[in-house]
Amino acid sequence: MALPFMTAAEAAQFVKHGDVVGMGGFTPAGAPKEVPTAIAHMATALHAEGKPFKIGVYTGASTGDSCDGELARAHAIEFRTPYQSNKDLRTELNSQQAHYFDLHLSELAQNLRYGFLPKPDVAIVEACIVNEQGEIVPTAGVGIAPTICNMADKIIVELNEAMPATMRGMHDIYEPLDPPLRREIPVYKPSDRIGTDCIKVDPKKIVAVVKTNRPNEVGKFAELDETTKRIGDNVALFLETEMKAGRIPASFLPIQSGVGNIANAVLGALGENKDIPAFEMYTEVIQDSVIGLMKEGRVKFASGCSLTIGADKLQDIVDHMDFFRDKIVLRPQEISNNPEVARRLGLITINTALEADIFGNINSTHVCGTKMMNGIGGSGDFTRNAYISIYTTPSTAKNGCISSIVPMVSHLDHSEHSVKILITEHGIADLRGKSPIQRAHEIIEKCVDPAYKPMMREYLEKSKVAHTQHNLHLAFAMHEEFLRSGDMRNTRFE
Ligand code: COA
Repeated sequence: MALPFMTAAEAAQFVKHGDVVGMGGFTPAGAPKEVPTAIAHMATALHAEGKPFKIGVYTGASTGDSCDGELARAHAIEFRTPYQSNKDLRTELNSQQAHYFDLHLSELAQNLRYGFLPKPDVAIVEACIVNEQGEIVPTAGVGIAPTICNMADKIIVELNEAMPATMRGMHDIYEPLDPPLRREIPVYKPSDRIGTDCIKVDPKKIVAVVKTNRPNEVGKFAELDETTKRIGDNVALFLETEMKAGRIPASFLPIQSGVGNIANAVLGALGENKDIPAFEMYTEVIQDSVIGLMKEGRVKFASGCSLTIGADKLQDIVDHMDFFRDKIVLRPQEISNNPEVARRLGLITINTALEADIFGNINSTHVCGTKMMNGIGGSGDFTRNAYISIYTTPSTAKNGCISSIVPMVSHLDHSEHSVKILITEHGIADLRGKSPIQRAHEIIEKCVDPAYKPMMREYLEKSKVAHTQHNLHLAFAMHEEFLRSGDMRNTRFE
């Protein structure tokens, strides 16, 4: 059976108003590009004719602008899960033009199989190889591609010729059985391979193959500044101290590192600290800094769900595939973020908080408790199951007008029970074995910016002595002040 090659516009016709569409890839890495844009154009044309067109969209995580951005600007999204980071989609979600449910990334595939969420009608996946036997080899990200390809009746493949077929062998595709039949996931070290090198589907389900030639739409990271460098150095110092104290084995443990500028910088600092041995990673996104560290021999192996790296770094891998092939494995997010595996391997998890409170609770997602930033991503998958869970954050945001550490988080993603270490550019708060008031003193003295320390101490003085000391009237005074005057430093606890 010949593969059904066609244009993106023709392939888009397979998607109907009210359909639920699953996208392969993870972050912009490996996410489909031209077909989602064609769907968005189709939606805009239908809307101009006064006809409705909206779809539900599942993805691995965020996608590129050609997917989330185009669909958002076309007002073509009815609902969206589990993660996003696109400015225009964020506007749609925060104005309730599209419904968004923020989900632990490891859960999406099984929630689809369990029937908790609507079945995907169409799967759109990017591949570097697709053949008449129904073998689909993903590109730089896997995400939920195996599950949506299994579940959807129609599969559209973007065959991206910018992604070399030599990527075959980098992926490890595995879907666990569902309870009560599930067995252990047999990953005992980050480099263990347990599945196949491609997704296998019934070839009759492949309704369209669209040839593309597009690089990944991965953005550039912010340059290292003094704050991010100091955070990175503090993380490295903490881990070095733990190792010397015998609380981390001398052979070290695999690292999970979160998304964004701070995480990228932290990893760079870890790599530079030669008191920390060369390490392995069992993580979700493999970011830019990992590739350099691999070449320097500082990162020995990286298991992830995606290569979320700039075009230059991806080219470097492609050009030196013999070096990288046995050092990288890309897995579905159900496995890269699996709680069982995270707990077994003993991951040192390092994620970034948008906001933390003085008791160790973390807000990863909501600005001032209401506006969705990105989503929880895999931070919960890892934090709750870590050997040791670390949160990093610059102590202030928006030129000091926001203290990232507040009396009470305005939205809770990770609770005091799961968060063990908080690190800012000022220091390291070790929350292990401490009561709430001990944690509050530790965080205020070690992590809060000097401009906000007196304010935090005053908050404690004005709060009610109890197991967890709070003043419910004043708990959000700093947020309210920011919304009123644009600067938390003007807060008066009255
Ligand atoms: N209140 C309001 N805005 C804040 C803030 C706060 N307390 N703290 C940071 N911000 C703003 C920053 O000013 C910046 O705004 P800008 O984009 O307008 O410049 C933005 O949030 C991002 O902050 P930045 O310091 O550049 O951090 P980052 O790129 O490292 O991202 C998170 C930080 C928290 C948004 C990001 O890590 C995230 O989405 N985390 C959730 C998902 C996750 O942890 N995944 C990892 C699993 S593997």
